Amino acid sequence: MNNIKEAFLSIYQRPPEVICFAPGRVNLIGEHTDYNGGHVFPCAVDMGITCAASPRRDRVFRFYSQNFIDDGIREYRAVNLARQGCWADYPVGVIRAFAAFGYLLADGADFYFCGDLPDGAGLSSSAALEVATGTALKALFDVPVTPQEIAAIGQFAENRFIGVKCGIMDQFASAMGRRGCAVLLNSATLKYEYAPIGDAATVIVNSGVKHSLASSAYNLRRQECKTALSALGAHTLCELTPDEFEENKNKITDPICRKRARHVIYENKRAIDAASALKSGDLALFGRLMNLSHASLRDDYEVSCAELDFLADSAQSIDGVYGSRMTGGGFGGCTVTLLKRGGEESFIEKIKTAYRDRFGTTPEAYAVTAADGAAVVENVRQK
Ligand code: GLA
Repeated sequence: MNNIKEAFLSIYQRPPEVICFAPGRVNLIGEHTDYNGGHVFPCAVDMGITCAASPRRDRVFRFYSQNFIDDGIREYRAVNLARQGCWADYPVGVIRAFAAFGYLLADGADFYFCGDLPDGAGLSSSAALEVATGTALKALFDVPVTPQEIAAIGQFAENRFIGVKCGIMDQFASAMGRRGCAVLLNSATLKYEYAPIGDAATVIVNSGVKHSLASSAYNLRRQECKTALSALGAHTLCELTPDEFEENKNKITDPICRKRARHVIYENKRAIDAASALKSGDLALFGRLMNLSHASLRDDYEVSCAELDFLADSAQSIDGVYGSRMTGGGFGGCTVTLLKRGGEESFIEKIKTAYRDRFGTTPEAYAVTAADGAAVVENVRQK
């Protein structure tokens, strides 16, 4: 905390007035369902982005990130918040989205960010950046915005300003996470409930494959789902049960779009079933659903890659593991593995060795715990 204050001071020659933190997330199950009216089951993690900020009096916004020092201080004027093609476009998108949601900001501000989420690893560093910015703006300018709205604002910024047509899951988990719990979120109604993860450990393994393809392929998947949806004549894909899908699937003439819809509809059911399994303490069932989710993402949704398949397969055969799957948008990034508590260290050692033997590099692995959503850590504003 002192570090970020000193860092802010050395960049901007004055102290920060607000410090806040927004976590990244890992999705346990329910992948690519959140833009199809389905359920997701993520939790916030104890890694994320810390933001220090102070208001300005000249309608200028400045941004500095310890993770992109070569970019230096990026400056935008409130009268022209156009994209500059760098990381700071994300917080700027949030500022624009505040206005679109009817929240006018009194003035400009200086921001300093630092984070420990690996970039491009599918742990939602961009959502954490958006939610950290929203949380800081709320505190700096006393904006009466709720954490749920901050999540929606982050998604809006990414959809409209950055151009990735993401769903609400990542921002929602970052804003609304709860310690020790995963959040079962219905993306159609935004109704949610917390489910204690209980007696299992969660390990994330980073394949190191950067999901650079992700935004174009992600938008393409959305398009394919839309095609399937119009063939089915439904309102959202996840309105359909797997049985209804089986009865109607031949209406989708394109076999690719049919596979995409099959993944989405079965995955929605798996997410709901997994949440019930967790509630009743049936971790074995939860794990099996995770494994099925991975297979479906690999075969039907085609968003996995050889490295993720290897990590999930290897993990599934290690003692004490309930289940393992790729997590997030895909095309690289991380797997998430649920395993017996106490087995984390030996699991990490085994999976690292297996991966190194196969691909020649040692992956990063983190035992994570479910964390609270974004919060203001310190506020010394001079009102
Ligand atoms: C990305 C998006 C989310 C979600 C996942 C896939 O993380 O930001 O909204 O669609 O991919 O489940």
